[in-house]
Amino acid sequence: MKTLVILSQKGGSGKSTLTVHLAVCAVQRGLKTAILDIDHNQASSLRWNETRADDHKIDTAKCTAKELRSYLQMAEKGGVDLVLVDTAPHSNSDSVIAAQLADFILIPCRPALFDLEAIFNTVQLAKATGHSYSVIINAAPRGKLADETRSFLERNSVPVMALTLYQRAAYTHALLDGRSVHEYEPDGKATAEINELYEYISAELKLKRRLVA
Ligand SMILES: Nc1ncnc2c1ncn2[C@@H]1O[C@H](COP(=O)(O)OP(=O)(O)OP(=O)(O)O)[C@@H](O)[C@H]1O
Ligand SMILES: [Mg+2]
Repeated sequence: MKTLVILSQKGGSGKSTLTVHLAVCAVQRGLKTAILDIDHNQASSLRWNETRADDHKIDTAKCTAKELRSYLQMAEKGGVDLVLVDTAPHSNSDSVIAAQLADFILIPCRPALFDLEAIFNTVQLAKATGHSYSVIINAAPRGKLADETRSFLERNSVPVMALTLYQRAAYTHALLDGRSVHEYEPDGKATAEINELYEYISAELKLKRRLVA
């Protein structure tokens, strides 16, 4: 079993959006997939799953950071291939616990000054675990901003993916009623970008594609 932790202490960077979308990607590839939501107050991933059609629900549970290790052990016993952990902004102690349990830490970051300033704490925290991690630039407007942000991060020795996730209305439409962009606009650009992100992470984690019955 592999654990993907989506981490950023900056609010609204796209943690929950990426968690649920990457979970759909994994399910589509036949992986036994679970989401653990340690953002107790908002529980966005949990709530998204509750609004999903019954035959499309993904195994999702809410737990505290302190409970995370035992929930992961339960998932492993249950034969889960991939657990995605959605985290809360602001809490340093919860973020540390989640990061320490990760096989890969994905750090979404909007290409904006305040977001960039805030990202360095999360990056330090990820680095301290010794586990693999990378920033993904999310919700970028069209234009040069994503590339400028990437260059800034690279100059500061922060690992950042070559892929950019652009600002796409499809996410908002899809999330409203418990869908993903795959289900809202299968041939859309958001779907293509999120699939590319999944393939990158899948290679990092050496995830296998299983046959879907
Ligand atoms: N690439 C994108 N394009 C358009 N909208 C996006 C994109 N990524 C995220 N959003 C939107 O931005 C808002 C915040 O995203 P989300 O809730 O996933 O962030 P978060 O990091 O989980 O926030 P929090 O820190 O509060 O938990 C949501 O309305 C979401 O639909
Ligand atoms: Mg969230």
